[in-house]
Amino acid sequence: MTNEKTQRAELKEQEKIIQLNNITREFSDGTIAVDDVSFYVRKGEFITFLGPSGCGKTTTLRMIAGFDKPTSGQILLNGKDISDLPPHKRPINTVFQRYALFPHLNIYENIAFGLKLKKVKVTYQDQEGNLIEKIEKLKKSEIREKVEKALKMVDLEGFEKRSVSTLSGGQQQRVAIARALVNEPQILLLDEPLGALDLKMRKDMQLELKEMHRKLGITFIYVTHDQEEALTMSDTIVVMKDGKIQQIGNPTDIYNEPKNSFVADFIGESNIFSGTMVGEKIVRFIGKNFECVDDFAKNEKVDVVVRPEDVKLVDEGKGQVNGKIISSIFKGMHYEMVMLIGKTEVVIQDTIERKVGEKVSLIINPNDIHIMAKEFSTNKYDGYITKRNTVCFGDGEFECDVTQLYKGSFLDEEGYLITAEGDKIDLTDVDVNVEVGLKDIEISDHEEDGGAVGNIISIIYKGDHYQLIVRTDENEEDYVFDTEYTWNENDRVSVIIPKEKIKLSLKQEIKR
Ligand SMILES: Nc1ncnc2c1ncn2[C@@H]1O[C@H](COP(=O)(O)OP(=O)(O)O)[C@@H](O)[C@H]1O
Ligand SMILES: [Mg+2]
Repeated sequence: MTNEKTQRAELKEQEKIIQLNNITREFSDGTIAVDDVSFYVRKGEFITFLGPSGCGKTTTLRMIAGFDKPTSGQILLNGKDISDLPPHKRPINTVFQRYALFPHLNIYENIAFGLKLKKVKVTYQDQEGNLIEKIEKLKKSEIREKVEKALKMVDLEGFEKRSVSTLSGGQQQRVAIARALVNEPQILLLDEPLGALDLKMRKDMQLELKEMHRKLGITFIYVTHDQEEALTMSDTIVVMKDGKIQQIGNPTDIYNEPKNSFVADFIGESNIFSGTMVGEKIVRFIGKNFECVDDFAKNEKVDVVVRPEDVKLVDEGKGQVNGKIISSIFKGMHYEMVMLIGKTEVVIQDTIERKVGEKVSLIINPNDIHIMAKEFSTNKYDGYITKRNTVCFGDGEFECDVTQLYKGSFLDEEGYLITAEGDKIDLTDVDVNVEVGLKDIEISDHEEDGGAVGNIISIIYKGDHYQLIVRTDENEEDYVFDTEYTWNENDRVSVIIPKEKIKLSLKQEIKR
């Protein structure tokens, strides 16, 4: 994804406090922790880096703080390159993942620690009226004033003499924040600061931090791997994966308009279905055509994202697709239910419960169907094994090698699978994921040659080969494949897949 696509609207230069231009950090072992990242931070905003562990959040923060240097790229602070500015000269303070307080010092001493070492420029006037500049330590009274102010900011007035060990985890974290705030930074960096707290304390501290941000008016750059935390606290969220920015936006945009299936999956619980565009703003998934608002080319393979709370349940026959409730859990505010449609599970959240076993129907509004382009590299199907040890998927039945489901297994004379441990398994009706590569499908004019039958609905020339789609009649299942041969649209053909090219994996472990 290009930076333009992931970046926010342009902003006046003077409104940006931090700007990263094409920042890359490669470690000596070859790990690229941050990969060509560009973004800006607006003055006073609460911006959060969100992504799974190892995606490069801490490394990004460390470069902003000056503890680490980019391999390439430029970091601007208030429009000026700060490459050569050491950490203590940057108006930036960090609150770390593990708040390292000094256990032998009391609260006052912990917060005053940095200030006692700090030297400031002081200007005097001598008797002749000349201005003289001196570098001096802060006066005791000045330090006291600053410490008291910082303690007030984190709501710990009067805690000066307490020892660290008498404080709760939340209070200790507030001391750590006070220690950063006492330097009056323009920017506060917070690297998973609530990671060590229990859930209740985290929730309280989230609100406190937000309130602190509001009162202080300074810029907060926050790091978390917790999507809920990011959504509740931030003005802006930067979603990262593998050192790259996936999307930048406000929480509502990120939640409602995820740019790709990674973001959708990472932000909250989502249903992600494989779909196909079958007409102008018409997408097919879970065996049914739905109206949608996104326009993609006809026959394009897409990811379809639907939030659990956007699926409405009605009585069987009254909605768009019928199915059955197979699980229901009360989650405090709503029920989380799973509806089974064919072999596909749909997660639904609703305040009204539908009981397990109930037959229902679902409705999804066009506005709630989010479509994302998909890099199509392989055909995927839901399938099941028959008692003949063949596999059914895509409206067809194919010969396959079921022994790939268990390493070291073989079939006995009666057709049971014998595992390496000697267990005997009947695979009949076992659900499997099926994958077939684009180069592993052939077609034939003779319907009886292949395992499934359909019509060629699309032929695209790809430079040195054609990419074809064969669609079946019954459930409109698609077979996408590459071929050098020329065919005609609407030809009726059968689909041939060599036995060894059908990749199978179990949907769930079989109970033995
Ligand atoms: N000093 C280092 N040397 C080599 N690899 C590192 C170093 N620091 C971090 N990494 C690697 O860089 C990647 C990003 O790390 P990090 O920025 O800590 O991620 P996050 O904070 O998102 O969990 C990880 O793969 C991590 O193992
Ligand atoms: Mg980290």
